[in-house]
Amino acid sequence: MTLTYGVPSRCDIPTVVTSRLILRGWRPEDLAPYAAMNADPETMRYLDGPFGVDATERLVTHLIGMWSLRGHGMWAVEDRGSGEFLGRAGSYIAQGWPGIEVAVSIRRDHWGRGLGTEAIRASLEFGFERLPVDELITSTHRDNTGMNSIAHRLGMTFRGVADVGPWRASNVYAITRAEWRSRPPATTTTVATTTSMATVTTATSMAAATTPAAALLRIRQSGPSSGGYPSVDCGHGEQRSRKRTPGR
Ligand SMILES: CC(C)(COP(=O)(O)OP(=O)(O)OC[C@H]1O[C@@H](n2cnc3c(N)ncnc32)[C@H](O)[C@@H]1OP(=O)(O)O)[C@@H](O)C(=O)NCCC(=O)NCCS
Repeated sequence: MTLTYGVPSRCDIPTVVTSRLILRGWRPEDLAPYAAMNADPETMRYLDGPFGVDATERLVTHLIGMWSLRGHGMWAVEDRGSGEFLGRAGSYIAQGWPGIEVAVSIRRDHWGRGLGTEAIRASLEFGFERLPVDELITSTHRDNTGMNSIAHRLGMTFRGVADVGPWRASNVYAITRAEWRSRPPATTTTVATTTSMATVTTATSMAAATTPAAALLRIRQSGPSSGGYPSVDCGHGEQRSRKRTPGR
């Protein structure tokens, strides 16, 4: 018998740095705080919970797998200042869904600070920057005031109410690449900073926190085992490097 082995590899999940958040690949230490969120009935009011640690671990491995299978997915959301785990955000698609959805869940003690909006804005920008799609959608229960408000604020258009499967009684919103790109340009400010994963030494043009392009400071193609690929600027109108693109 001859055994042939391939080289084990890990999925490279790019890191996105916004003004207050780091959207990054998942770590084992995220499981406990994420499980606490998933066990909270108020957080899960319009989601498919509450559920416990085991289901959280299955969900996280599924979310990681989406990156490998689809070339996009959900990040862990980290507070850029404190390093605390704040939730999850990014994109998702399942069989039968009409398109790639952007979604977010933020730890309840941080609601109302604009972080949900910031994370969805980054997810839209990343999607239109890196995925071969002309439209992104979001869906949320019609009574989920916060998420409906985020969709409106970011210029997404109401497309109707879905009444099947997980979309029962859900408002569906969409925005096209052209609509997203035609949103007003941001006022810029200059920032130089350090993240927990890499030192960003170059002063970078970054939008002010209240403007449409505020969310994205940088995308780094830097999974835990990648050794670090070149940083890629990803603001509206900025020069973009395309040395390496994700799977799709
Ligand atoms: C929906 C959610 C992501 C909003 O996050 P957030 O960080 O509070 O969002 P923001 O601070 O950017 O605020 C967005 C809107 O939510 C509103 N909001 C925040 N907390 C709220 C609350 N407890 N009840 C009602 N509305 C709330 C804000 O006032 C804001 O509305 P406005 O634009 O009219 O002022 C957050 O409540 C959450 O994680 N909920 C649980 C998961 C979920 O339902 N996700 C959406 C499904 S994809």
